[in-house]
Amino acid sequence: MTHRKLAPGRLVIASHNAGKVREIRALLASFGIDPVSAGDLGLPEPEETGTTFRDNALVKAHASTAASGLPALADDSGLEVAALGGRPGVYTADWAERQWFEGEKGRDWYMAMGKVEGLLAEQGPDVDRSAAFVCTLALAWPDGHAEVFEGRAAGSLTWPPRGTLGFGYDPVFIPAGKSLTYAEIDPAEKHAISHRADAFAKLVAGVF
Ligand code: IMP
Repeated sequence: MTHRKLAPGRLVIASHNAGKVREIRALLASFGIDPVSAGDLGLPEPEETGTTFRDNALVKAHASTAASGLPALADDSGLEVAALGGRPGVYTADWAERQWFEGEKGRDWYMAMGKVEGLLAEQGPDVDRSAAFVCTLALAWPDGHAEVFEGRAAGSLTWPPRGTLGFGYDPVFIPAGKSLTYAEIDPAEKHAISHRADAFAKLVAGVF
């Protein structure tokens, strides 16, 4: 399949998630791309109305490219837990949504990890703890063209959470073949093996 090439220059990272923006910046560093985040540009955060990673990544990429006039790269990602039928999936961030006090919402990753663990515990001590992180990257241009790339990282869930690096569900995810969680390994090592790295490798092969 041939993909449209991305010319060197400015690119919007269509995310307001600081952890994702940090990782995407690191992954883009060597490609002559000058990234700016949607948050830094004050772009609105669109409603993620899709039911697939692909749809939500496209919603975010098209919204940022339309609002900025620059090419925009969006990441929609999440955790699929085998014993939960693939949940939380596209609702991974929603499971962390918490009403702190009237009108103010926040994300509580420890609550979200606890919710996953609680559902696994209901299935007894021999429950299948395998899970995968999924990352879908959508790159959209102001003329409406878009390219989509999907990455995956298999692993298993541990409890209690371990480590302080990374973001989101990193402290409970042990990538296949390793014994440390994503939150315990050096970020450079996570960037070499993660779902985001897998999707990025496909994007790099396609558009650079
Ligand atoms: P969304 O793509 O912004 O809807 O949210 C995806 C959610 O999945 C993030 O907010 C994280 O909680 C989780 N997630 C995605 N990628 C990672 C990762 O690399 N480590 C830990 N959690 C992740």
